[in-house]
Amino acid sequence: MVSTPERTALDVAALMPRAIGRYTPVFVERGEGVYVWDTDGTRFADFTAGIGVVNTGHCHPRVVEAIRDQAGKIIHAQANILAHEPMLRAAQAVTETLPEQLNQVFWTNSGAEATEGALKLAKIATGRPAIIAFRGGFHGRTHAAMAVTSSRVKVRGHYEPLLSSVYFAPYPYLFRSPYRGPAEEQDLRYFEELEQVFEQLVMPDDVAAILIETVLGEGGYLVPTARWLQKVRELCDRHGIMLILDEVQSGMGRTGKMWGFEHFDVVPDIMTAAKGLASGMPVAAVISDKAIMDKWTPGSHGGTYGGNAVGTAAAYATMQVMRDEDLPGNAARMGQILMDGLREIQADYPVIGDVRGLGLMVATEFVHPDGSPNPDAVKTVLARAFDENTLLITCGTYDQAIRIIPPLVVNEEQIRDFLGVYRRAVAAV
Ligand SMILES: Cc1ncc(COP(=O)(O)O)c(C=O)c1O
Repeated sequence: MVSTPERTALDVAALMPRAIGRYTPVFVERGEGVYVWDTDGTRFADFTAGIGVVNTGHCHPRVVEAIRDQAGKIIHAQANILAHEPMLRAAQAVTETLPEQLNQVFWTNSGAEATEGALKLAKIATGRPAIIAFRGGFHGRTHAAMAVTSSRVKVRGHYEPLLSSVYFAPYPYLFRSPYRGPAEEQDLRYFEELEQVFEQLVMPDDVAAILIETVLGEGGYLVPTARWLQKVRELCDRHGIMLILDEVQSGMGRTGKMWGFEHFDVVPDIMTAAKGLASGMPVAAVISDKAIMDKWTPGSHGGTYGGNAVGTAAAYATMQVMRDEDLPGNAARMGQILMDGLREIQADYPVIGDVRGLGLMVATEFVHPDGSPNPDAVKTVLARAFDENTLLITCGTYDQAIRIIPPLVVNEEQIRDFLGVYRRAVAAV
């Protein structure tokens, strides 16, 4: 019999590749709602939500029950061999929240795999080779996903050759716009840059898809203007290009609406979802219209685990919790209190250059007095918040911003407690 080693004998550095850099030394035992507890019983407020995943809170009882119940029936009901209720119920529940042209779900296991699927679908549906993505975007770490990613060079550097025929345009970063002219017209300058791709780099009828994070995540929590996104939609329509919206981080209630694109009055041809979809079970999705999905002939895309019965049972329970507890609505309300509080802190501490976001997809960007990015301030704030048992993570190419993304079940008292912690941490810079 193999004996179980003592916890103290489990050496993280020896057993885990250092590619998995960690923000904290916390050795976690359990989680509930907004909190996690380490093995010594210390409680931490998790304002990372596992990188925007546990939107229903850690171990929501209804999700836990659905997982337990399904695990006792069948765990792996392979989708090429068996149909089953959880996979279909979850697909129905997800598409019910979406516009009618987003009516079929291809289940997969991670955001990166959803990106791969969406790109393959756009290519096969249009018969075209090229992709346009945006500078600062993040879509995952598999080979095609990293080729359309540019949030940080370390994600793609030293992995060449990458997927070819990928072109980049700048994502609207209005706080750091390099263009001249009135602030309210900066989004138009960014759109002109995108149009220039067709003048200088690639013919529009060679482009299968324009791939966009509805709200840019890892690259800095940037919110585009509705006008910009709508103009991109029109551009796609004009040239028969598929608009793919990556809702992996901005979806599932995070922005105060079920899906990020609801803020912008734009509907994609193809969308991806993951993270919050199943409250932490590895479930992701490519979602599109049946007419587009039908371009995939049987076997032209697939995977062993997609539509896993336990995972999709968790996804279905997650969708029910989202609806019954109105988590998008709570995200909108709590997000407003959070943003107001952060703006008050910003007024007292100019080291915060920008407070931005939608719902509970919020970040503060730190600056030096000359306005340049200030990752050192970010490090100090993270460390001080950790001293007060609060977990946070960064974003931005230079780690110049801190994401504030608690589970969407967070309440007002927890937000106000957090604002107290954050104020003290920023004051320490
Ligand atoms: C917008 C976006 N797309 C795709 C991904 C990749 O998801 P995964 O890490 O599940 O592969 C992420 C992960 O952070 C993301 O934020």
